[in-house]
Amino acid sequence: MELITEKLNNIFLKAFRDAGYDEQDIKVGECAIEKFGDFSCQSPLFLAKKYYKAPLIIANDVLSHLPQNEIIKDATVASPGYINFFVDDKYLAKYLQEYLFDVDKARKATGKKMLIDYGGANCAKPLHVGHLRSADIGESIKRIRKYMGDECIADVHLGDWGLQMGMVIYAVWEKHPDLVYFDQEYTGEYPTQPPFSMEELKVMYPDISKRSKEDENLHEKVQQITYELQQGRRGYVALWRHIINASKKLIKQDYDKLNAHFDLWLGESDSKVYQDEVIDYVIKNGYSRKSDGATIVDISLPEDKATIPPFMLLNSAGSALYSTTELATIVQREREHNVDEIMYVVDNRQELHFVQAFRCVKKINILKKDIVLQFVGFGTMNGPDGKPYKTRDGKAMGLDELMGMVKSKALEKVRESRPDYSQHEIENISDVVALSALKFADLSVLRTKDLMFDVDKFCSFEGKTGPYILYTITRANSILAKVEKPSGDFCLLDEDRKLALCLIKFTDSIKQAYEKSAPSYLCDYAYNLANEFNTFYGKSSIIYETNETKKYSKIMLTNYTKNMLKKCMELLAINTLEKM
Ligand code: ARG
Repeated sequence: MELITEKLNNIFLKAFRDAGYDEQDIKVGECAIEKFGDFSCQSPLFLAKKYYKAPLIIANDVLSHLPQNEIIKDATVASPGYINFFVDDKYLAKYLQEYLFDVDKARKATGKKMLIDYGGANCAKPLHVGHLRSADIGESIKRIRKYMGDECIADVHLGDWGLQMGMVIYAVWEKHPDLVYFDQEYTGEYPTQPPFSMEELKVMYPDISKRSKEDENLHEKVQQITYELQQGRRGYVALWRHIINASKKLIKQDYDKLNAHFDLWLGESDSKVYQDEVIDYVIKNGYSRKSDGATIVDISLPEDKATIPPFMLLNSAGSALYSTTELATIVQREREHNVDEIMYVVDNRQELHFVQAFRCVKKINILKKDIVLQFVGFGTMNGPDGKPYKTRDGKAMGLDELMGMVKSKALEKVRESRPDYSQHEIENISDVVALSALKFADLSVLRTKDLMFDVDKFCSFEGKTGPYILYTITRANSILAKVEKPSGDFCLLDEDRKLALCLIKFTDSIKQAYEKSAPSYLCDYAYNLANEFNTFYGKSSIIYETNETKKYSKIMLTNYTKNMLKKCMELLAINTLEKM
C-alpha cells in the first residue's frame, strides 16, 4: 500500500524537477495551521541557499509545475516559502477506506530477530513500582515490534541468583535448622514439597533484608550462604529450587494481572552454564586484572568525560555478580537464540551497569556477530515529594498496594457515574478501568521522563487517560448498537474530514513509537483520535440522521474509530470494554 504521504512526496518531487530543481529529498508534512491546509511542503526553504533564490520564488515555481493529480486541492504559497494544500474530499474518502482495509495487511516481516529483556522481577521479593514500568513499557514495545514485522522473544530475566536468595535460605534455616537441606552429610533425595507456604515466602526476604542491614554478622552469614549456593552446595541448591519455583508462580500472577506475557521465564542463574566459560575466556585472554582481590576489566575510554568504573567480573570472595550474569546472558542469547538485537527495558538508574556490560562485550570480542545491544531506560514513578514512590516506612511502593489505590478510586468513580449498575457489574468495569488508568498513565509519559503518581488524574474520564479512551470506545459502541447494519456509499462531509485525517495518521505514530521505542507516541495518537471522535460525535446526530448516505458515512466513521482505538489499546497491552 502506498501511503498518502508517499504519493504526495512523489507528486512534489516531480514538480520540483519540472521546475528545474533536481532534488532527491523533497518532503511533505502536516500543515501547522489547520485553516491553511491539511499538508504543507517546506522544501523551498531548504533549497534557497543552493539556488540563490528566495524561498517564495521557488515555492511559486513549484506550484506552477504541480502535475495533474486527484489528491491536491487549493494549493497556495505562503510566506516565507511554504506550499500549503488540502486533500480533495472524494479522494480522502476513497483513500481512508483503502487505508483502513490494508493497514494491517501491508506489513511485512523485517527479517530482524530481537530479544527483549523486561519485567526483571526478583525472586522472593515482591514486585514494586519500578517493575511495573518495565512490564508496561516492555510489553508494549514488544507488541509494536511484532506489529511492524520483527521477530521478538520476550524474556523476563528474573533476579534469582543474588544475595536475596541467600537471605531466604537463611530465613528457612533460622526457622527449621534441622531440615535435610542444611545437613552437609545428607546424600539422599530432597523433598518434593517446599518447607514453607506462599505466605511465609512473602515475608522472609523483607524480614532478613531489614535485619541484615543492622547486623553485620547476619550479613556475612547471608553472603557465605550465597557463595556456597553459587558453588553448588547440594542442599542449598535444592532449597533454592523450591524458592524460585514458588516465586515464579507469584510473579507470574502479577504479570498476568498487568497483561505482560513472556516467552522465556529464564533468570540470572540460567546463564550459569556459560558463566565459567566466559570467566575463563576473559582471564585467559588477559582482559582482566586483579584489584583489591576482585577481578575486573578496565573499560574506560580516552574520550570519556565522566569516569566509567571497571566492569566487575568476580568480587573479592570469588563470587559472580549481577555484572557477571549479564555478560554470560548475552553470550547465552547469541548462542541459543541467534538474535540480531537485544533490548533492555530497565530503570534509567541502571544505565551505567549496561554501559559497562556493553563495553566489556565489545572489548573482549566474545560475540560471533555484531549484535545491537540497546538500553531502553525509563524514569521513575514518583510520589508527591517528587522522589521515587515509597511507602510510609520508606520502602519502594509495592505493586499490590499501588494497584489497590487505583482500584478503589476506579470503584468510586464508576459507582458514582453508574449508580444503577449491580455490584458485580461495577466491580468488573472498575477492574478494567483501574488497569487502563495505571497502564495508560505509565505509558503516556515519554519513557525517559519521570512521572508523578496521581490517582485522581490517572482515573479521570477526561483528559489524556486510559479511562477516557475506554469511555470513547464504549461511546462509539453504544451508537453502533443502536443502528442497523448499514449499507451505502461512503462520502466524507466537510465537518468530518478532521476525523478522517486523524485516522490515516496511525502509520506515522506507530512508526515513531517503533523507531524511538516509545509507546507514548501511540498514546498521544489514541488521545487525539478520541478527541476528534468526541468532537465529531458532539456535532452529529448519527442515529436520527435522515439522509441515508450521510448516516451510512457517519456510522462507518464511528466504526473505523472504534476499531482504531482498540488496535492502539491492544498495542499498548490495555484491555478495553464493550460497554460501560
Ligand atoms: N532484576 C533487576 C532489578 O530488579 C532487573 C533486571 C533487568 N535486566 C537485566 N538483564 N539486567 O533491578
